[in-house]
Amino acid sequence: MAGIELVDVQKRYKVDGKTVQVLSGIHMKVPKESITVILGKSGCGKTTLLRLVGGLEEPDGGEILYGESHRTAFVFQEPRLMPWLNVADNIRFGLKKKEMDPDEIQSIIHTVGLDGFEKAYPSQLSGGMQQRTSIARALAYRPSFIMMDEPFAALDYFTREQMQKELLRVQRIQGASILFVTHSIDEALLLGNKIIIIENGRVKTEFELPKTEKFRNLLDETFIELKRDIIKNLNNDK
Ligand SMILES: Nc1ncnc2c1ncn2[C@@H]1O[C@H](COP(=O)(O)OP(=O)(O)O)[C@@H](O)[C@H]1O
Ligand SMILES: [Mg+2]
Repeated sequence: MAGIELVDVQKRYKVDGKTVQVLSGIHMKVPKESITVILGKSGCGKTTLLRLVGGLEEPDGGEILYGESHRTAFVFQEPRLMPWLNVADNIRFGLKKKEMDPDEIQSIIHTVGLDGFEKAYPSQLSGGMQQRTSIARALAYRPSFIMMDEPFAALDYFTREQMQKELLRVQRIQGASILFVTHSIDEALLLGNKIIIIENGRVKTEFELPKTEKFRNLLDETFIELKRDIIKNLNNDK
């Protein structure tokens, strides 16, 4: 099997003695070498789902099937860099000595557009550059899957747009497999090869997006039509 498959995955939390069923039977496939987006309202269980797929938590029911050995990297909403390490050392952080290839690290730094900033500390970088460093750190780990939890949510409109383009470019170059969580319909449409809508603890709908890149533009007609479809889907609460 290529990728990750979730079969009837359930997750509940106990809060104040009461059980909250967050995920109540998730079935989905996350293919390799593409961007799969999980879209849903705040609090619908997106982060929980990502943590389960990434192995940070165990499901209470169901199964998560990994096709082959998997190595997972995470990019969170905030960069989570080590303030006492410079860009290059932050990127190397988490790698064993034998896994470090200076040429490859340099090529990743180039890919995320941080040439010349190798020695800079996080406090000397803009928010966008810090987030690019955390993406570089994820790539350097050579993961089979990158789990991204609303990584651009804290960025301003222009930086966010630039980062989305950057991510598409990096994904194309590296052929990375990405599971990307967002509550933004626009972001889901700009990035996703597949969009999975989560509602009431279940997969509500899935959209496979056209292979062409042409429609990935907020003003494109196909884009607007897909957006209308998704909004209708999210509003129809039955
Ligand atoms: N560790 C936890 N303990 C108790 N409840 C949790 C925990 N993590 C998440 N939840 C609850 O699960 C629900 C889904 O949370 P989350 O996955 O963070 O949603 P999202 O990322 O879609 O905003 C929320 O109601 C949240 O309060
Ligand atoms: Mg979340």
